[in-house]
Amino acid sequence: MATTEVKFSNFKKIVFFTGAGLSAESGIPTFRGKGGTWSQYNFEDYACQKAFDRDPEKVWDFHDERRVVAAECEPNRAHQIIAEVQKMNPATKVITQNIDGLLDRVGVKDTIELHGSLWRVRCYGCEMVTRDDTAPIRSRKCECGQYFRPDIVWFGDMLDDLQMQNARTAIRSCDLLISVGTSASVFPAAHLPFYAMPEAFKVEVNPEITDMTSEYNLHLSGPASEMLEKML
Ligand code: OAD
Repeated sequence: MATTEVKFSNFKKIVFFTGAGLSAESGIPTFRGKGGTWSQYNFEDYACQKAFDRDPEKVWDFHDERRVVAAECEPNRAHQIIAEVQKMNPATKVITQNIDGLLDRVGVKDTIELHGSLWRVRCYGCEMVTRDDTAPIRSRKCECGQYFRPDIVWFGDMLDDLQMQNARTAIRSCDLLISVGTSASVFPAAHLPFYAMPEAFKVEVNPEITDMTSEYNLHLSGPASEMLEKML
């Protein structure tokens, strides 16, 4: 299929599979690569259960900073295009590894959040999961006195079974899979494109080549907003 023929309107069941690069144009740093979060912070000190058990305040300082940055950023054209495509075609599913909540802010519905959300917290004591949009967070502790933990899938955590199942089901039945801004280096999410049927058309949007590039029918090299605009 020629690039010019790959238009959203030519497909019935579209799945977007997004990573941190989707929000790069909004000013939210990606995790890997130059200026990436993990080039400045050791994830073992900030994004795993052991780090939180050792020093919850330090881990919260890190996550509060992520909250403040995300709250100050605006969704970009790529987020808006995803929302527009879903509005035009409600069968469109969005699977994200992003925790920044920018897809919610443009009205994307029923997002499958594989890695949780910066804007939800889980209490250690009463195990309640609550939404909290404050940045920095209003309180790091629940009314029951225990620490909240960001409801994020940290390194070493299991992904939520239901979210993974929903993601696999969506990908198995799609006729267009578009991965946007993911380095495809974190598993099991990185493996999801393998669930697409052979007849599905697969597009990777990323300024860089990834380890998964050869699995796609088309690689669109450039920023998410520009590349998705071409498909409208
Ligand atoms: P990464 O930071 O690993 O990769 C971001 C990708 O975005 C890279 O391949 C970039 O080339 C690409 N990119 C950069 N700017 C872009 C732009 N303007 N348009 C399109 N693509 C662009 O982010 P993820 O693949 O999302 O976990 O990382 C996966 C997981 O690792 C994340 O969910 C995070 C992290 O640890 C959690 O937060 C739990």
